[in-house]
Amino acid sequence: MRRAIYPGSFDPVTNGHLDIIERGCKLFDEIIIAILINPEKRPFFTIEERREILKEVLQEINRSTCGLRVDDFEGLLVHYAVAQEADAIVRGIRAISDYEYELQMALMNRRLEPTIETVFMMPAEKYSYVSSRLVKEVFQLGGELNGLVPSLVEERMKQKMASG
Ligand code: PNS
Repeated sequence: MRRAIYPGSFDPVTNGHLDIIERGCKLFDEIIIAILINPEKRPFFTIEERREILKEVLQEINRSTCGLRVDDFEGLLVHYAVAQEADAIVRGIRAISDYEYELQMALMNRRLEPTIETVFMMPAEKYSYVSSRLVKEVFQLGGELNGLVPSLVEERMKQKMASG
Protein backbone atom coordinates (compact mmCIF):
# COMPACT_ATOMS: atom_id res chain seq x y z
CA MET A 1 0.00 0.00 0.00
CA ARG A 2 1.72 3.16 -1.24
CA ARG A 3 0.32 6.44 0.09
CA ALA A 4 1.28 9.91 -1.10
CA ILE A 5 0.46 13.40 0.05
CA TYR A 6 -0.23 16.00 -2.63
CA PRO A 7 0.04 19.27 -0.69
CA GLY A 8 -0.78 22.77 -1.83
CA SER A 9 -2.94 25.84 -1.47
CA PHE A 10 -5.42 24.78 -4.19
CA ASP A 11 -6.85 28.29 -4.26
CA PRO A 12 -8.40 27.30 -6.59
CA VAL A 13 -7.72 23.77 -7.86
CA THR A 14 -6.74 23.95 -11.55
CA ASN A 15 -6.78 21.44 -14.39
CA GLY A 16 -3.01 21.25 -13.91
CA HIS A 17 -3.51 19.97 -10.34
CA LEU A 18 -6.03 17.41 -11.58
CA ASP A 19 -3.61 16.25 -14.26
CA ILE A 20 -0.96 15.64 -11.59
CA ILE A 21 -3.46 13.76 -9.41
CA GLU A 22 -4.41 11.49 -12.30
CA ARG A 23 -0.76 10.80 -13.09
CA GLY A 24 0.03 10.27 -9.40
CA CYS A 25 -2.70 7.66 -9.26
CA LYS A 26 -0.63 5.49 -11.59
CA LEU A 27 2.14 5.39 -8.99
CA PHE A 28 0.30 5.35 -5.68
CA ASP A 29 -2.57 3.38 -4.18
CA GLU A 30 -3.81 6.40 -2.29
CA ILE A 31 -3.28 10.13 -2.61
CA ILE A 32 -4.26 12.56 0.11
CA ILE A 33 -4.83 16.00 -1.35
CA ALA A 34 -3.79 18.16 1.58
CA ILE A 35 -4.71 21.84 1.70
CA LEU A 36 -2.32 24.02 3.66
CA ILE A 37 -4.00 26.15 6.35
CA ASN A 38 -1.98 29.33 6.05
CA PRO A 39 -3.24 32.11 8.34
CA GLU A 40 -0.86 34.60 6.72
CA LYS A 41 -2.40 34.43 3.25
CA ARG A 42 -5.69 36.07 2.31
CA PRO A 43 -7.18 33.36 0.10
CA PHE A 44 -9.93 33.66 -2.50
CA PHE A 45 -11.71 30.57 -1.14
CA THR A 46 -11.83 29.56 2.53
CA ILE A 47 -10.38 26.20 3.54
CA GLU A 48 -13.91 24.78 3.83
CA GLU A 49 -14.82 26.01 0.34
CA ARG A 50 -11.62 24.61 -1.16
CA ARG A 51 -12.18 21.27 0.56
CA GLU A 52 -15.74 21.08 -0.73
CA ILE A 53 -14.78 22.13 -4.28
CA LEU A 54 -11.94 19.60 -4.40
CA LYS A 55 -14.21 16.80 -3.22
CA GLU A 56 -16.82 17.62 -5.85
CA VAL A 57 -14.31 17.96 -8.66
CA LEU A 58 -12.53 14.73 -7.72
CA GLN A 59 -15.81 12.83 -7.68
CA GLU A 60 -16.26 13.85 -11.30
CA ILE A 61 -12.81 12.76 -12.45
CA ASN A 62 -12.23 9.76 -10.21
CA ARG A 63 -12.04 6.70 -12.39
CA SER A 64 -11.11 4.78 -9.24
CA THR A 65 -7.55 4.11 -10.33
CA CYS A 66 -6.49 4.95 -6.78
CA GLY A 67 -8.02 6.14 -3.53
CA LEU A 68 -8.36 9.91 -3.24
CA ARG A 69 -8.91 11.79 0.00
CA VAL A 70 -9.15 15.51 0.69
CA ASP A 71 -7.81 16.91 3.95
CA ASP A 72 -6.19 20.02 5.34
CA PHE A 73 -3.15 20.52 7.53
CA GLU A 74 -1.19 23.14 9.38
CA GLY A 75 2.39 23.19 10.55
CA LEU A 76 5.17 21.21 8.95
CA LEU A 77 4.23 19.13 5.93
CA VAL A 78 6.57 16.30 6.92
CA HIS A 79 4.94 16.04 10.36
CA TYR A 80 1.57 15.73 8.65
CA ALA A 81 2.96 13.18 6.18
CA VAL A 82 4.35 11.00 9.00
CA ALA A 83 1.08 11.25 10.93
CA GLN A 84 -0.75 10.04 7.81
CA GLU A 85 1.79 7.20 7.36
CA ALA A 86 2.60 8.45 3.88
CA ASP A 87 5.56 7.25 1.83
CA ALA A 88 5.92 10.26 -0.40
CA ILE A 89 5.07 13.85 -1.18
CA VAL A 90 3.99 14.60 -4.75
CA ARG A 91 4.73 17.99 -6.30
CA GLY A 92 4.07 19.17 -9.83
CA ILE A 93 6.87 20.87 -11.75
CA ARG A 94 5.74 22.96 -14.70
CA ALA A 95 8.96 24.63 -15.74
CA ILE A 96 12.59 25.03 -14.72
CA SER A 97 11.54 28.12 -12.77
CA ASP A 98 9.51 25.90 -10.42
CA TYR A 99 12.42 23.56 -9.91
CA GLU A 100 14.66 25.76 -7.78
CA TYR A 101 12.06 26.39 -5.08
CA GLU A 102 10.75 22.83 -5.25
CA LEU A 103 14.25 21.41 -4.91
CA GLN A 104 14.87 23.57 -1.84
CA MET A 105 11.63 22.38 -0.26
CA ALA A 106 12.27 18.75 -1.15
CA LEU A 107 15.77 18.80 0.34
CA MET A 108 14.62 20.62 3.47
CA ASN A 109 11.80 18.12 3.88
CA ARG A 110 14.27 15.26 3.43
CA ARG A 111 16.54 16.75 6.08
CA LEU A 112 13.59 17.10 8.46
CA GLU A 113 12.22 13.64 7.68
CA PRO A 114 14.48 11.27 5.71
CA THR A 115 11.82 8.55 5.48
CA ILE A 116 9.55 10.62 3.20
CA GLU A 117 10.49 10.85 -0.48
CA THR A 118 9.46 13.74 -2.72
CA VAL A 119 8.29 12.78 -6.20
CA PHE A 120 8.24 15.49 -8.88
CA MET A 121 5.74 15.02 -11.67
CA MET A 122 5.28 16.96 -14.92
CA PRO A 123 1.78 17.95 -15.99
CA ALA A 124 0.71 17.86 -19.63
CA GLU A 125 2.36 20.67 -21.65
CA LYS A 126 -1.01 22.35 -22.13
CA TYR A 127 -1.05 23.10 -18.40
CA SER A 128 2.57 24.20 -18.15
CA TYR A 129 1.59 27.86 -17.75
CA VAL A 130 -1.48 27.34 -15.54
CA SER A 131 -1.23 28.47 -11.93
CA SER A 132 -3.83 29.29 -9.28
CA ARG A 133 -2.34 32.78 -9.02
CA LEU A 134 -2.79 33.52 -12.74
CA VAL A 135 -6.23 31.92 -12.79
CA LYS A 136 -7.36 34.34 -10.06
CA GLU A 137 -5.81 37.31 -11.85
CA VAL A 138 -7.39 36.43 -15.19
CA PHE A 139 -10.75 35.85 -13.50
CA GLN A 140 -10.65 39.11 -11.55
CA LEU A 141 -9.89 41.00 -14.76
CA GLY A 142 -12.79 39.37 -16.61
CA GLY A 143 -10.87 36.80 -18.70
CA GLU A 144 -12.07 33.36 -19.82
CA LEU A 145 -11.09 30.38 -17.64
CA ASN A 146 -12.36 27.74 -20.02
CA GLY A 147 -9.95 24.76 -20.08
CA LEU A 148 -7.84 26.11 -17.20
CA VAL A 149 -10.06 25.05 -14.31
CA PRO A 150 -13.02 22.65 -14.02
CA SER A 151 -16.29 24.42 -14.89
CA LEU A 152 -17.46 23.94 -11.30
CA VAL A 153 -14.52 26.04 -10.09
CA GLU A 154 -15.37 28.86 -12.48
CA GLU A 155 -19.01 28.73 -11.36
CA ARG A 156 -18.00 28.92 -7.70
CA MET A 157 -15.65 31.81 -8.42
CA LYS A 158 -18.48 33.71 -10.11
CA GLN A 159 -20.85 32.97 -7.21
CA LYS A 160 -18.27 34.11 -4.68
CA MET A 161 -17.58 37.30 -6.62
CA ALA A 162 -21.32 38.01 -6.92
CA SER A 163 -21.88 37.51 -3.20
CA GLY A 164 -19.14 40.04 -2.44
O1 PNS B 1 0.50 25.21 -3.66
P1 PNS B 1 1.67 25.80 -2.95
O2 PNS B 1 1.25 27.09 -2.26
O3 PNS B 1 2.86 25.97 -3.84
O4 PNS B 1 2.10 24.75 -1.79
C1 PNS B 1 3.17 25.02 -0.93
C2 PNS B 1 3.26 23.96 0.20
C3 PNS B 1 1.92 23.81 0.89
C4 PNS B 1 3.67 22.65 -0.37
C5 PNS B 1 4.34 24.46 1.20
O5 PNS B 1 4.12 25.79 1.52
C6 PNS B 1 4.36 23.64 2.49
O6 PNS B 1 4.69 22.49 2.50
N1 PNS B 1 3.98 24.29 3.63
C7 PNS B 1 3.89 23.66 4.92
C8 PNS B 1 4.92 24.21 5.90
C9 PNS B 1 6.23 23.48 5.75
O7 PNS B 1 6.32 22.27 5.87
N2 PNS B 1 7.28 24.26 5.46
C10 PNS B 1 8.62 23.74 5.22
C11 PNS B 1 8.77 23.35 3.75
S1 PNS B 1 10.41 22.96 3.39
